[in-house]
Formats: sequence, C-alpha cells, structure tokens
Amino acid sequence: MATSLSAGTDRGEGQSPANPLGGVHSSYQGPRAPISRDRGLAWWRRILPVIASHRATFLAAIGLSFLSLIFQTLIPNMLNGAIDHALVKPSTALHTDVVHILIVGLLAGVTGVVSRQYVFATAYNVEADLRSLIYEHLTWLSFSFYDRVQSGQLISRANSDIRSVQMYATFAPLILVQCCIGVIAFGFMLSISPLLAVIAMTVMPILYFVGIRMRRVMFPISWITQARLADVATIVDENVNGVRVVKSFAQEEAEVNRLADAAERVAWAYIKDAQIRGVWSPWVQNLPQLGLALVLFFGGWMVIDGKLGIGAILAFNAYLLMLQAPFMMLGQLVMMGQRAKASAERIFEILDESPEVVERPGAYDLEVAHGTLDFNHVRFEYATGADILTDFDAHIEAGETVAIVGRTGSGKSTVARLVTRFYDVTGGSITIDGHDVRDVTLGSLRANVGVVLDEPFLFSISIRDNIAYGRPDASLDEVEAAARAANAHEFIERLREGYDTVVGERGYTLSGGQRQRIAIARTLLVNPPILILDDATSSIDVHVEAGIYESLRRLLKSRTTIVIAHRISTIALASRVILLDEGRVVASGTHAQLLATTPLYAQVLAQTSAEEE
Ligand SMILES: Nc1ncnc2c1ncn2[C@@H]1O[C@H](COP(=O)(O)OP(=O)(O)OP(=O)(O)O)[C@@H](O)[C@H]1O
Ligand SMILES: [Mg+2]
Repeated sequence: MATSLSAGTDRGEGQSPANPLGGVHSSYQGPRAPISRDRGLAWWRRILPVIASHRATFLAAIGLSFLSLIFQTLIPNMLNGAIDHALVKPSTALHTDVVHILIVGLLAGVTGVVSRQYVFATAYNVEADLRSLIYEHLTWLSFSFYDRVQSGQLISRANSDIRSVQMYATFAPLILVQCCIGVIAFGFMLSISPLLAVIAMTVMPILYFVGIRMRRVMFPISWITQARLADVATIVDENVNGVRVVKSFAQEEAEVNRLADAAERVAWAYIKDAQIRGVWSPWVQNLPQLGLALVLFFGGWMVIDGKLGIGAILAFNAYLLMLQAPFMMLGQLVMMGQRAKASAERIFEILDESPEVVERPGAYDLEVAHGTLDFNHVRFEYATGADILTDFDAHIEAGETVAIVGRTGSGKSTVARLVTRFYDVTGGSITIDGHDVRDVTLGSLRANVGVVLDEPFLFSISIRDNIAYGRPDASLDEVEAAARAANAHEFIERLREGYDTVVGERGYTLSGGQRQRIAIARTLLVNPPILILDDATSSIDVHVEAGIYESLRRLLKSRTTIVIAHRISTIALASRVILLDEGRVVASGTHAQLLATTPLYAQVLAQTSAEEE
C-alpha cells in the first residue's frame, strides 16, 4: 500500500522523529517521556518526567559535581592544618601536606570536568526532547489550532522558551548541590570556631529574603519580555513571507515602522528588566562581601587575643569565598527561575492543546472497495461561530465525477476539508462506502482521499521530490507519468535542470498554473480512489486546462471525483453538478438541466465568470 501524501501530514512524521527522513540519519532516539498531563502540578513537576528520563547522566552529573565540591571544601581545612603545622612545629614535614593538598585539588579538578560533560549532555538531551515533544504535538494538532495561532509565536516558543526551561531545569539542581556544599563548609567553619562561623553567616538570611523579594518583582516583566519578543518574530515572519504583498503595495516603510514599534516595546521591557536588576543585583552581589568584612574584623580580633590560629582566618576566608558563589548564583537562579516559569507556561499552552480531530479508540484502516461518498445532512461551523453548512446532503456514486458549484464563500472548500477530516462535522455524518470517516484511522482516510488544495504549497526541494512527496519511493517513471497526466511534463522538461530543478521557497519561482499542475501531479501519484480538486485549475489557462482534462478524463474513470470549479470548461468534466447555497444543496443535475431549471445556477456562473475576467 502506498504511503500517502497526507499520512505524512498527520501524526506520521511526528511520531517517530528518529526516522531517517530524506537520508538524514540521526542517532537521537526521540523523547523518552512526555511532560506530566496534570495541569494542577507546579511547572517544574510537569517537566520532571522529561528530566527523569535522563536520570542516569543527570545523577552522574550531580554526583560527580558533589564529589568535586567535597574535595574543594577539604582544601581550606587542609591548608589551615598545614599552616598551623608549618608555623607551630616547622619540623613536621610540610611537603606531605602539600602533596595531599595537590592530590585532593587534582581530584576536585577531574571530577569537576567529567561532571560538566554529563551536565551538558543532560541539558542538550532535555532540550532536544522538549523540541521534539512540541514539534510532535504541533504535527498532531488540528487545522483549527493553526487558524488561531501566529507562526511567529510558535517559532519563538520552540526556541527561546525551550532554552530557558532547559537551562533552569539542569543547572538549578547543580546550584542547589553547591548550596549543600555550603552546609558542609559551614560545618567545617563551626568546627574551627563556632562564634566566628555564626558571625560570618549573619548576612545569609538577608540574602535569602532579598532573593524572594526580587523574584516577586521580576516575574511579570520576564513574562512580558518573552511575549513581546514573540510579537517581533511574528512581524518578521509575516514580512518575509508576505514580502511580495508588502512591496507591491509599497508598504515597506509602514512595515518597518510596525517592526520598530514592536522592537521599542521589547526594548522597554528589557530596560524595565535592567532597572529592576540594577536595584536588586548590588544587594545580592555585595551582601557576601559584608560577611567577609565581618570575618576579617572579628577574626583578626580573635587572633590578636590568641583565641584563634592564623590559619583559621585563611580557611574562613576561603570558605566564605566558596559560599559566596552559590549564594550569588542563588540570586541568578531566582532570575532564571522567573524566565523558566514563564517559558514553561507558554510551552504548556501548546502541549495542553488537544487536537479536535482525533482517531477514535478502535479506529480501523479504511479500505475503499467502491468509493461511494455520502454526505448525510452535514452541519458545520468554524470556531468563529457562523453556520457554514446547515444541511448539506448529497450522495455521490462510486466512480462518479461531480462538480460542486456555489458563490464564493458558500462553503465549497469547507466540504473538501470535511471529507479528509481537516475539521469534523458538527452535525450529520460523512461516509465512504458506508464507513463514517470518524471511525477510520486518519492515515488510511487521507491515503484514500486525495485533495488538491486551492493554494498549492510546494516545498523548496526539487520538482521530482515535490511530486513524490506522498510516495518518496516512487520511481522517476512514475513521477513522470503523474506529471504527464497533470500536463506538467512539458514545462518541467523545458526547465534547465528538468525534474531536478529546485523550486524557490513555496514554489515562487514557478507560475501559479505551474504550481497547480505540480500539486495535481503530487496527488495523482498517490493514486487515491477518491479525488477532490479544489479550484485546482483556476490559474491554468483554458487550453492547458483542456489538456489536463483530456488526461484526467482517463484517470477519473476509475475513481470518485469532486471538482470544485467556477469555469464552465471545468464543470463540463463532471457528469453531475451540485449547486451549493446557504449551507445546503439547492439543486443537483447535469449542467444543462440546472441551466434550464435553476436561475440561481446561471446567476452563480455569470458572477464567477465575470470575476475571472
Ligand atoms: N479556517 C476558517 N476559520 C473560520 N472561518 C472560515 C475558515 N475558512 C473559511 N471560513 C469561512 O467559511 C466560509 C466558507 O469558506 P470556503 O473556503 O469553504 O468557501 P468557498 O466556497 O470555497 O469559497 P471560494 O469559492 O472563494 O473558494 C467563508 O465565509 C469563510 O469566511
Ligand atoms: Mg474555496
């Protein structure tokens, strides 16, 4: 069975991101665990399963960094001993102390390096997982989601938000390990001089409360920053993709201004962020220095009084420096936390979105034996609310070619989208050979119903690959045959590189009619038993169109076909015409019958052909 064009557009691609697509091989196995579905959990607990799926490397990273820090904390204490030995009893072998210190220092270094490698491995694997989870989910979401969401927002979320969550999720635990080490360092300090230890630590609670306060102030602004960055991405995205429209209306300046406004709004958010940081960071950074000053003052006093060895001051100094790092990072951690929380919530907005069109449990593969298509009192409205179809009822025989005609905006394309379940009917049902389209698997449905959309989207790959999109295994002969049937072969041959010509982004190096013909070939190659051509020949001139129909006529004999068309020449291809108006079928019959009996039909034809002139 041919893998279909549309099987790729539904869950197929997303489910196995590790699949070597187009010869790209990757050792990445895809995400091992999804995020938690429980929306009541704190954001980090929802992400936790993803991190937990890398626990081996993650725990190794944490364990080794813990070890490394333990070694580091040992050093000042050993130094204290060595100095005391050297000063008090210079005879004892100082070099053994030095050798011990060197060995411990080396161990600290090696474990530090290895732990870092594990940290980065975990961090980038978590990032890759989050990225695949989002992409997988996006491919799974229904068309209605894309009707609502701006692509700039999506791109931004998939990049900066994932990065900030990943950074926090992997580095926060490490900073916490450092804080644990702080406790051990404090233990050593207590063992040297409890009084001085308490004095040194007096500033730490203040540091903690400053951190909490800062978190409250920072949160809203970091959220705003991210949202505004996404707005900029949307504008850039629209301007790049819509550059032809922008230029043809000479709106470059207006667009530049629109971007400047958005950029200014980002700048405002960043400046606000910097102002808040400016107020709070000096506190976070300088409070530990105050602790150091206290140690020197009181410690010096105690040494002069003879209550403390000189080595102790040195050790205290080293420990406080060591403590300073985690406490300062704790401040940074607070800021990273704001960003990560805001980012995570925006990622959840996507991941919590459930697709409206889903396979029912127990869905089976559709095998089209005949190709009878029935619309049973179909009702449909888009999320925007207006009734598009109120009672669309039609029976299409196996092998029949039917034209759907109606005013613009009457819902013809909507009918096409419902057959392939791009959207689900809100009432009534659509059946193929008696099988409700909602009972069968999406992959098999879309493999059996081929749609040529009114806006043919091409990828910036070769023409051959574009035509073979739904059947990458097709031979060049098959691709050519499909191209011939769509009357595209001649013009493709005339291109300098023939079938290997890479089309520009979205196919813009081809004319509208050429794009449409490639889109027709792409669908014909899949050879679906049911074919829907939605305005598929509207940009093709009448002579070429006639040629396409000549070859299509042969192809259409064996399949059920719906053509949505304005031109009489296209309609002539059909044996029957269905006239759609105000959400229902108002007449059905041959072109001649409708002309004779239904004034509206002649009106619609007159209107649509007038538009074309
Ligand atoms: N994604 C969407 N979300 C909300 N409303 C939509 C969406 N797509 C179409 N509509 C609305 O549904 C109605 C029918 O649209 P449809 O594209 O089916 O018309 P059509 O008959 O194919 O028109 P045309 O002949 O111009 O192609 C229109 O009024 C349109 O505004
Ligand atoms: Mg349409």
